[in-house]
Amino acid sequence: MTYAAITGWGKCLPPAVLTNADLATFLDTNDEWITSRTGIRERRISHVPLDELAYVSSMRALAAAGLDPADLDLIVVGCCSYDDQVPNQASGLQARLGARKAASMDVNTACTSFLYSLSTATALIRTGVVRNALVIGGEIITAYLDWQNRGVAVLFGDGCAAVVLEATDREEGLLAEKLGCDSDARDTLVVEGMGCRYANRGRILGQTNWIFQGPEIFRRAVLSMSGACADVLASRHITADDVDLVIPHQANLRIIEAVAKRAGVPMERVFVNVQRYGNMSAATVPVALVEALEEGRVPPNSTLLMPAFGAGLTWCAHLVRWGERVTPKGTSDAELPPCDKTAVELVRGFMRGKGIEL
Ligand code: ACO
Repeated sequence: MTYAAITGWGKCLPPAVLTNADLATFLDTNDEWITSRTGIRERRISHVPLDELAYVSSMRALAAAGLDPADLDLIVVGCCSYDDQVPNQASGLQARLGARKAASMDVNTACTSFLYSLSTATALIRTGVVRNALVIGGEIITAYLDWQNRGVAVLFGDGCAAVVLEATDREEGLLAEKLGCDSDARDTLVVEGMGCRYANRGRILGQTNWIFQGPEIFRRAVLSMSGACADVLASRHITADDVDLVIPHQANLRIIEAVAKRAGVPMERVFVNVQRYGNMSAATVPVALVEALEEGRVPPNSTLLMPAFGAGLTWCAHLVRWGERVTPKGTSDAELPPCDKTAVELVRGFMRGKGIEL
């Protein structure tokens, strides 16, 4: 039997930090509202395209695995905020990495895109199509935000992380997953202006309007993630007590707490970093995984549970068995170009590009 072990991991967060106090300089909001409703205290705003974040994350993950990019068989980028639709994000990464023999694809299921990508790459390794894969979760979601909409602008941030998968005969990596989509609720989260539906309908591509029914998404997120967790544990005949760490999608602290309660896992065994980054969509789970490893929260041979939800409304839960090694084999000196703007200046620049002065 072939499995797909996670052998490398790396993250890249853009340096510009937008605090809740910064948001209050151009939006009718305040730190108390944002912190008490979401747990978010700050988020990152990228000064570079996703391509740069993905390259640095990937180089760090490949160094951690000790794998040469030239030996990669597959690149899967999980994302909904590509630099370009055509050509795809993964082919740009193939070129940057010099991974000339790697098949390259993007997967878009919104915030669940990294975990759906992990399923895709794992399946291709387990069926023998490829021997290894680089899986990325990354977003520059802030370029698409409507920074005048306080119900949405306070929630999101940018970031990226990557993992390397390699074939093994040890029972490691993704052992079980439950994937789903509640399309009856797809109209609760729509970003108008991100697709060609809006051409010739009075909306400029990229000039977005977020339709976002926060309380309904909240309710659906809790139900779908906790249901998926129960299913995936039952499929392996284990219980919440057997899970060493839950690494959930980080959209809102209250959603995480509600899912943990329903899943029967105390918050001490749940990894939370939403306070630092907000909702980075596809990047939340891999960035949280990398930080859990850095903080020593992933013991050798541990069992990890990763639930997520996103627009669609897609949802899932993934059960991962970690291997023996919890430290990187090597490091990379890849770095982002320096940033000479503040986060507020970057946000004002996005809006000025859309003809709006904040
Ligand atoms: N600052 C101050 N007040 C605000 C803000 C803000 N940033 N945003 C909304 N308010 C006001 C509203 O106008 C409303 O005022 P009113 O009562 O006078 O009308 C009040 O606060 C309450 O608004 P609600 O939307 O009911 O607030 P709620 O407590 O439900 O929290 C929130 C809103 C945080 C969005 C919550 O519903 C939520 O987290 N939902 C899930 C959203 C989420 O995580 N989405 C991510 C999914 S996207 C993805 O994964 C792809």
